[in-house]
Amino acid sequence: MAPMLRSIALPLLPTIVSAARYEEYILAPSSRTLHPAAVYNINGTVTGAASLTENPSGSATFQGPSAVTYDFGINIAGIVSLQLASADADQYIGLTYSESSLWISGEGSDATADAGIDETLWFHITEPGTYTVDRKHERGGFRYLSLIHNTTGSVEVGEVTVHYTPMPHWDGDQLKAYTGWFHCNDELVNRIWYAGAYTNQICTIDPNWGNSLIHLGEIESDQEGDRVGTVTWYNNFTITNGSSALVDGAKRDRIVWPGDMAIAVPTLTVSTYDLITVVNSLDSLFDLQNSTTGQLPYAGRPFPLLYSATYHLYSLIGVADYYLYSGDVDYLQGKWSQWNAGLNFSLSFIDNSGMMNVTSPNDWLRFGMGGHNIEANSILYYTINQGIMLGGVLNEDASLLNGWARQAATIRESANRLLWNETAGMYHDNETTTLMPQDGNSWAVVSNLADTDEKKAAISAGLAARWGPYGAPAPEADDAVSPFISGFELQAHFLAGDASAALELVRLQWGFMLDDPRMTNSTFIEGYAADGELHYAPYTNDPRVSHAHGWATGPTGTLVFEFGGIHLLSAAGQTWEIAPALGGLTAVDTGFETTVGLFSSQVNASTDGTVTGMKFVTPAGTMGSVRLPGVSGQLMSENGTMVSLVGGMARNVSGGTWTLRPAGAPVQAEGKAASGTSMSVLVIAAGILALML
Ligand SMILES: *[C@@H]1O[C@H](CO)[C@@H](O)[C@H](O)[C@H]1NC(C)=O
Ligand SMILES: *[C@@H]1O[C@H](CO)[C@@H](O)[C@H](O)[C@H]1NC(C)=O
Ligand SMILES: *[C@@H]1O[C@H](CO)[C@@H](O)[C@H](O)[C@H]1NC(C)=O
Ligand SMILES: *[C@@H]1O[C@H](CO)[C@@H](O)[C@H](O)[C@H]1NC(C)=O
Ligand SMILES: *[C@@H]1O[C@H](CO)[C@@H](O)[C@H](O)[C@H]1NC(C)=O
Ligand SMILES: *[C@@H]1O[C@H](CO)[C@@H](O)[C@H](O)[C@H]1NC(C)=O
Ligand SMILES: *[C@@H]1O[C@H](CO)[C@@H](O)[C@H](O)[C@H]1NC(C)=O
Ligand SMILES: *[C@@H]1O[C@H](CO)[C@@H](O)[C@H](O)[C@H]1NC(C)=O
Ligand SMILES: *[C@@H]1O[C@H](CO)[C@@H](O)[C@H](O)[C@H]1NC(C)=O
Ligand SMILES: *[C@@H]1O[C@H](CO)[C@@H](O)[C@H](O)[C@H]1NC(C)=O
Ligand SMILES: *[C@@H]1O[C@H](CO)[C@@H](O)[C@H](O)[C@H]1NC(C)=O
Ligand SMILES: *[C@@H]1O[C@H](CO)[C@@H](O)[C@H](O)[C@H]1NC(C)=O
Repeated sequence: MAPMLRSIALPLLPTIVSAARYEEYILAPSSRTLHPAAVYNINGTVTGAASLTENPSGSATFQGPSAVTYDFGINIAGIVSLQLASADADQYIGLTYSESSLWISGEGSDATADAGIDETLWFHITEPGTYTVDRKHERGGFRYLSLIHNTTGSVEVGEVTVHYTPMPHWDGDQLKAYTGWFHCNDELVNRIWYAGAYTNQICTIDPNWGNSLIHLGEIESDQEGDRVGTVTWYNNFTITNGSSALVDGAKRDRIVWPGDMAIAVPTLTVSTYDLITVVNSLDSLFDLQNSTTGQLPYAGRPFPLLYSATYHLYSLIGVADYYLYSGDVDYLQGKWSQWNAGLNFSLSFIDNSGMMNVTSPNDWLRFGMGGHNIEANSILYYTINQGIMLGGVLNEDASLLNGWARQAATIRESANRLLWNETAGMYHDNETTTLMPQDGNSWAVVSNLADTDEKKAAISAGLAARWGPYGAPAPEADDAVSPFISGFELQAHFLAGDASAALELVRLQWGFMLDDPRMTNSTFIEGYAADGELHYAPYTNDPRVSHAHGWATGPTGTLVFEFGGIHLLSAAGQTWEIAPALGGLTAVDTGFETTVGLFSSQVNASTDGTVTGMKFVTPAGTMGSVRLPGVSGQLMSENGTMVSLVGGMARNVSGGTWTLRPAGAPVQAEGKAASGTSMSVLVIAAGILALML
């Protein structure tokens, strides 16, 4: 990683002198020392509770059995300290945490285990002073913190602070130093973009404090959600090397899951570009590869070594994604033999049907994974094609790549022959069922396994027709709403040419996830039920659901790559395509930075999607094309160079700052905005690099 970063020709400035664009939307705190934002509830007699919020002045006195619940306004994570001003003899203060308002309790915290709730942390108050939670009991996600006093007598608390622990490798006053931005004419969509970016930040943890998974497989709850009472919990397992790791969820599991990264990493790329964290996490998965078989783990340490046909492939996709976003060819070369062994392992499951026979039920906790499954085969088809792309970069032997291409073609032909239902306009899950899954149909489009535009359009329309009031259901998971699979559905609508369906789903499903009062108003939940209840079908223990899951952040990447239309085609954007599709939005301003430079796109459109104005920036020395269906006119470079759109397309366009001049429009004077803003982003990037080196 280090050589790649050092190769970037940017001045390393000692301090960041310029704020991120649209910084007012960024939810990350500006300091690691946090105080409660507000008092949510008081039980019993507590005087002065509000004096401990924001700029604390005074103290809160607990008299007899009593409790205060504080609200931090957003989902946060970290280590709580109480400053005890005075106390009677033999007093106790207990702490409980909750991400959702639903699970605020004086009995314990929301859950991290399969059953029960997490035990209260108790301080025995023996003298005035500061009482700090031990590090292994840092809480990875909570919006609400309750202080519980269970004794007669009184305790005076002078201050409640949380030391915020996410993004441990960034300076605490730089947590808003995003390299990417998004802004459009729809405020809900703007907030969704920034909540997605923030969800990944809170899921970026110090790898020495991952979940120990002490109760994995040990306690069961029944369908009625019977409580087994409170259970112990702690986070003291080292899950990766390095100083930061991207985990599935902030509260739990706090371990690396390769499937989750397929959505979280694009989000991270367009917001923080925190790629060292991606490297640490991917490395931890490849470190667990079986050197005999090539099998990669279902999840990172300390999860047991299990096989999942899909999550195995997601680790391979993770390398392809990291290479595409970073251009780090050395990393790719270093992983290539392991990558080959991993793909080989998957190919060995292809049987005489032409498709992979899935022999493990393990996936994203959907049901019925097995046999010639459409999702798994679409993901395999996609992965093989990524392998052909990566092999090309490494000048791999053509006979190997041609062999892969033949196997991919066979998978595609077989799946379309055996699993497509023309009447329904969707794929069946496998040959022995008529269930038509959300995951496999979305992935068939995303992977291009669906072999005609008509099939893609039918799938897009069919998926949209299923939406309920709270979002898109997954029939393969008892109609749970999966924000993970819905992230792929968003991409499928784009690839089927229906940007407005994608916008509608973003607003419907992610709007609910953001604004419902049971949510955190800042991070996205792991899953819920089609009727809006916060019950996620694979779990029997509702308080266990994570409210900050990187896999639920699909819109953040999609809004930049698809709505803004900035497609990176190779090595961190050495080649690119600009193809915005606003889907009903009327103005978008977005961009991000890679090792190659700054990419940005500002687009105006009418509500029917016709682009009426556009300006984009791509780095000098790169090359790309522009696709604006239905638009005629010219692109004008800052230096006056003109390129005509032919059939809405322009090819072989050099990197630079380009403005659309629609046919018939008068020449517009160019402002200084582009060069000024790109400079401020470069300055931020330089500051972040300085932190990382
Ligand atoms: C406060 O009292 C309510 C009602 O009894 C209870 O549901 C809640 O759990 C209590 N809160 C705390 C933090 O003890
Ligand atoms: C308060 O809680 C502490 C810690 O669980 C316990 O040891 C103590 O007995 C409790 N006191 C009362 C009066 O319940
Ligand atoms: C984690 O903490 C538990 C409980 O204190 C302890 O038993 C265990 O040894 C610790 N594990 C590690 C890896 O430090
Ligand atoms: C850290 O890297 C070393 C060397 O590759 C490896 O043996 C070890 O298992 C890694 N540890 C983790 C937690 O990934
Ligand atoms: C690797 O896979 C082989 C074959 O399934 C198995 O026998 C062996 O135990 C595995 N090795 C590890 C380290 O899990
Ligand atoms: C993949 O498998 C083929 C035969 O099935 C073998 O020739 C080749 O060496 C394997 N490659 C790797 C990287 O394991
Ligand atoms: C085929 O799909 C159905 C529906 O998901 C599932 O119940 C069944 O188990 C699958 N068949 C196999 C062989 O996994
Ligand atoms: C898939 O493999 C399993 C295990 O080897 C086997 O039992 C099953 O019959 C195979 N399924 C199909 C559809 O070939
Ligand atoms: C195709 O789907 C329709 C439902 O839309 C169903 O009635 C029909 O049986 C399916 N066809 C096959 C061959 O399973
Ligand atoms: C949610 O957060 C936004 C800022 O991101 C704020 O304006 C709004 O008031 C919050 N809504 C609630 C219900 O807290
Ligand atoms: C978009 O429209 C706004 C308002 O009319 C205008 O200020 C801006 O320059 C336009 N941007 C582009 C790229 O055409
Ligand atoms: C003008 O800008 C374009 C795009 O950045 C570039 O390809 C071209 O070389 C420039 N021409 C001159 C004369 O500088």
